[in-house]
Amino acid sequence: MWKPVLTGFVVAAVIVAGFLTFGCGALQNARFCAKNGTAAAMTVRSPARHDAYIRNQMPVTYRGRRNQYLATIGNLVEGARIYDQRCASCHGMMGIGDGEAGEKLVIPPADLSRSLGEQLYRDDFFYWSIAEGGAEFETAMPPFKDELKPGEIWKTLTFMRAAFAENNGAAQDAIALP
Ligand code: HEC
Repeated sequence: MWKPVLTGFVVAAVIVAGFLTFGCGALQNARFCAKNGTAAAMTVRSPARHDAYIRNQMPVTYRGRRNQYLATIGNLVEGARIYDQRCASCHGMMGIGDGEAGEKLVIPPADLSRSLGEQLYRDDFFYWSIAEGGAEFETAMPPFKDELKPGEIWKTLTFMRAAFAENNGAAQDAIALP
């Protein structure tokens, strides 16, 4: 008499396991699926840039720079304005690299939320990337050092951290500075 109950239980368990295994394949964009690497694996960013940073080959003048602009309403509003005007066309409104202007680029605009969420990439990485652009790595990332003042670059970063960072660890770190 326990047999049908047991069989029913096993069938239910198989269905649940099947959903957990194949569900993410069918729902690749679902938020909970990104955690197991599906979304991260699809993201492209310049390997040369990241390699240079990890090997400490970033120009000396940028090394160790820290963002002193706190996440005040004023700084966030200005950073958002600059981001919308100069960055969203390529990096997308949500910073995931899906802007229209970036669609045809060989090296697509980076998913900013990814590096912002990784502790390894500190303020100096972002400042250097934004100021110098991608000439050194033959990418379409424009240099902004002549167009934006240092404070404007930092405020854009303050906004990006507040709006896009997947993991707030790095953001807290920046915001907590004196
Ligand atoms: C014409 C398109 C374009 C515009 C506009 C643009 N970017 Fe980029 N950006 C790119 C591309 C392509 C890459 C990837 C290649 C690279 O790292 O050089 C990139 C990379 C980056 C990176 C490195 C991120 C990483 O994790 O590798 C940062 C930071 C960045 N952009 C910030 C900005 C900011 C901030 C703005 C606006 C002030 C901006 N970008 C405007 C195309 C663009």
